[in-house]
Amino acid sequence: MPPDYPGTLILFEGCEGAGKSTLLKSIAEILQEGTCGVIQTKEPRGYAREVLLNPHHPLTPEEELTIFIDGREEHFREIVIPALQNGDVVLCDRSTYSTIAYQHYGRGLDLTDILVRDAKARQNVDFDFIILLDIDPEIGLKRKKPETRFELETIDFHRRVRHGYLEQARIDSTGKWKIIDASKSEYDVLMDALAAIFKLLYRRR
Ligand code: TMP
Repeated sequence: MPPDYPGTLILFEGCEGAGKSTLLKSIAEILQEGTCGVIQTKEPRGYAREVLLNPHHPLTPEEELTIFIDGREEHFREIVIPALQNGDVVLCDRSTYSTIAYQHYGRGLDLTDILVRDAKARQNVDFDFIILLDIDPEIGLKRKKPETRFELETIDFHRRVRHGYLEQARIDSTGKWKIIDASKSEYDVLMDALAAIFKLLYRRR
């Protein structure tokens, strides 16, 4: 049974170059004008982020997964859970579904192992809503110069990641996923995301 907190946890997911960071920043600015507390956060963080993204730091897929999961445990314990207990809206850039898309669909690691370790790291705290910015990796990867371990992966890897995200959204039965076509203009993407978020926040009042 997932714990119940007064806050709301909204997750933003998507392939490289989908525009998550820009969208999240705009949404945070808009929500901050309201009365609720808004926290903007992301995974991976800190030193773990440096190690994970550095293409010159060799890591096996298993080591990579362990660093993501350990970082998530700390992230939820130190930032996400306290903010939810405080009644804040938490806007999170990547988490669980990135691990499933990149480490399971992309790298081929065992799904059950990921699911068990991920749920433990989150202390079973569930996301209230997931916005998936869907983009063809061919388009997304052209939006920035590839530099990180993941951006430098093959196009086939990125296609598997995209497929992984779409599969997760497709098999979901909770109605928590909103897929937005991220090839649309920044404004249109923002409007779609805001409409969905306001609907969610209104329902949860
Ligand atoms: P970004 O936050 O700047 O997009 O960079 C994070 C990178 O880490 C991105 O390429 C996706 C990858 N990633 C995983 O492979 N697994 C994960 O669990 C998370 C959170 C991110």
